[in-house]
Order: sequence, then structure tokens, then C-alpha cells
Amino acid sequence: MELTHIEHIGIAVKNLDEAIKYYENVLGLKCYAIEEVADQKVKTAFFKVGQTKIELLESTSEDGPIGKFIEKKGEGIHHLAFHVKDLPNALKEADEKGVRLIDSQPRKGAEGLNIAFLHPKSTYGVLTEFCEE
Ligand code: CO
Repeated sequence: MELTHIEHIGIAVKNLDEAIKYYENVLGLKCYAIEEVADQKVKTAFFKVGQTKIELLESTSEDGPIGKFIEKKGEGIHHLAFHVKDLPNALKEADEKGVRLIDSQPRKGAEGLNIAFLHPKSTYGVLTEFCEE
């Protein structure tokens, strides 16, 4: 597989509006998009730092993946997303090398990217996302 860069870092927050204020007023970044991803039960806000994005994630439902994450671990870094060339092939390779996949096929994520997750049990505790355009 070929990873080109860290596409984004996903951060779980309880209150998107409050967190956006921190990223804008303290870190001086600009939120350039807010998007709801209904099938993941999240509302997301995006910032750019160079080539890498920060993706803030607020749960729209207590039983969604981000709601459950915050309940268990509190707010904080939720996942690390690498940009890959040829996502289906990268997934196939990870699978062949014994990595547990959350998504065996690419699906649509925020910003129209094709995404897939690797299970943190197979990645030394880091929920890992692959994405490509
Ligand atoms: Co992500």
C-alpha cells in the first residue's frame, strides 16, 4: 500500500460550537466546513493545518459511535486518517496481512471521500482510517 500523508485527525468533542471557538480563537484556524454525516450519527467541523485537516466530531445521538466513545473515554483524539493511493487495494493488503477490518469495502465519508476503518485491536490502539478521493 502507499500512504501519502496524514489526511486528518478525528477528535471527539461534546459540543461542536464550543470546540470550534477554541480552534478559531486560540489556535487561529478557520473552520471551512460543517457537515452532518447521518449514517455515522455525527456532525463534523473541518480545519486545515498545512496538508492535514482536523476533523471535530460531535455525536448527534447517544448511541452513535462518537457518543459511545465519549461516554467510555471522554473527549479527545478518536482516529487517525491516512490518505492512501488505491483504497480497495490497501484494504485487501491489510486484510491479507491479518489486520482486522471494520470496513471490508470503502464507503462514503465526510467531504465525499471514500473511507474505511481498521480495527484498533489490530493497530496498537489507534482507530485507523484510510481515505482517498
Ligand atoms: Co475521519
